[in-house]
Amino acid sequence: MTILSKISSSSLLISLSPKLIHGTNSFLLSRSTTTTTLRITSKKEKAKAALAKEKRRTRSDKHFNKDAIIQHCFGTHSDNYTSRTHHIPVMLAEVLDVFSNTSLTSFVDCTLGAAGHSTAVIRSHPELKYFVGMDVDPMAHDMAQPRLNAVLHDGVKVFTILRNFRLIKSVLGETGDQHLVDAAVDGILMDLGMSSMQVDNPQRGFSVLGDGPLDMRMDPQASLKAEDILNSWPDSEVGRILRDYGEESNWRTLQKKIVEARLHGGLHSTSDLLDLIRCVTPAMKGGRQGWIKTATRVFQALRIAVNDELKTLEDSLYSCFDCLAPGGRLAVISFHSLEDRMVKQTFLDIVKGGQAVEEGESFNNDLKKTSNNEMKRKEAWIKQVIHGSNGTILTKRPITPSGEEEKLNRRSRSAKLRVIQKH
Ligand SMILES: C[S@@+](CC[C@H](N)C(=O)[O-])C[C@H]1O[C@@H](n2cnc3c(N)ncnc32)[C@H](O)[C@@H]1O
Repeated sequence: MTILSKISSSSLLISLSPKLIHGTNSFLLSRSTTTTTLRITSKKEKAKAALAKEKRRTRSDKHFNKDAIIQHCFGTHSDNYTSRTHHIPVMLAEVLDVFSNTSLTSFVDCTLGAAGHSTAVIRSHPELKYFVGMDVDPMAHDMAQPRLNAVLHDGVKVFTILRNFRLIKSVLGETGDQHLVDAAVDGILMDLGMSSMQVDNPQRGFSVLGDGPLDMRMDPQASLKAEDILNSWPDSEVGRILRDYGEESNWRTLQKKIVEARLHGGLHSTSDLLDLIRCVTPAMKGGRQGWIKTATRVFQALRIAVNDELKTLEDSLYSCFDCLAPGGRLAVISFHSLEDRMVKQTFLDIVKGGQAVEEGESFNNDLKKTSNNEMKRKEAWIKQVIHGSNGTILTKRPITPSGEEEKLNRRSRSAKLRVIQKH
């Protein structure tokens, strides 16, 4: 094993209409009928919505064994597991499937984290010659390095690089290795969002459950913090991020209260912000705990803005695709609808070569029929694909975690996996 470089980069930055009721009996009868009908309607509607949701995704049928994953990734018994120090990789078996049919000479993990996915990929691919792990958080590197060391086999060139994945092209260039400089990567993974270590550390400011500074930076060297947005951004910008990044319907009131808070010294801790949200959220909205849902949306909005997550993601998807070798695959796990929409639309744009396209549109019917069957025969996880001139989307519908994984690893609940392959 050769750790060629650990590039630290301070310089390199990174309805029911009511019935008309006359008479008591009919009132009683109608009222109970109405209540029942309401309940049925809402049950039916819920079932319909759930079915529609299921149809828009492919639920994984992979077995999820949490203990085995902890043992496999961290070499420790699950009794020793804590979310402060370990991050259970989401949809691990599904990610391994994506690359299982590929000879993986080179692999880039854009979101190294605690190296859960990476260690499993390395173990599954003895043919691996180049491994690049990127993360903006030094804490992730500190955790990942020993785990990588424990699984790396002789002859693998390893580059762990503290850098934003938006810079993947320059990072590959800097390795100085011709194979990577030629941008011929067989597999790339992006596991978006935060690691358990980041969420569960109150000092990072990501969690609605603990008290800490209003920070929310993935990269501790970055200058913008959530506190800066809340206390100094123009009112309209605060409103815009709550509306666009948090999809929060009560954004106007929240904007007003956040700006008013500046007159009394501003907001400086997550509890300051949570107290404000609790006061502003109507008591009946979303039930007794409705304010927590609002808080989750507000925190999401701030995190996206602090880390410029959507623009970074869009740019990076194009860059990652450019870095793939022919036949190479890019797998992306997203955790909220804005991210997933971005991945879906960008993949469509990539395969079609810049022209707008409707989802499910077939770009090349002949190619579609032959290669669909071929692909599905070889790889059972591939269900429906979308072909374009530049590549194939191997997940017309995103893959979501098995019911078992959702139950045992709550953080996986909103995960969606999409995969694209270069021609
Ligand atoms: C969900 S965690 C990855 C966990 C990892 N797959 C594992 O199994 O341990 C996401 C990681 O991506 C990092 N990250 C987020 N945005 C990034 C960016 N733009 N560039 C590089 N790393 C980023 C975060 O710091 C975090 O460590």
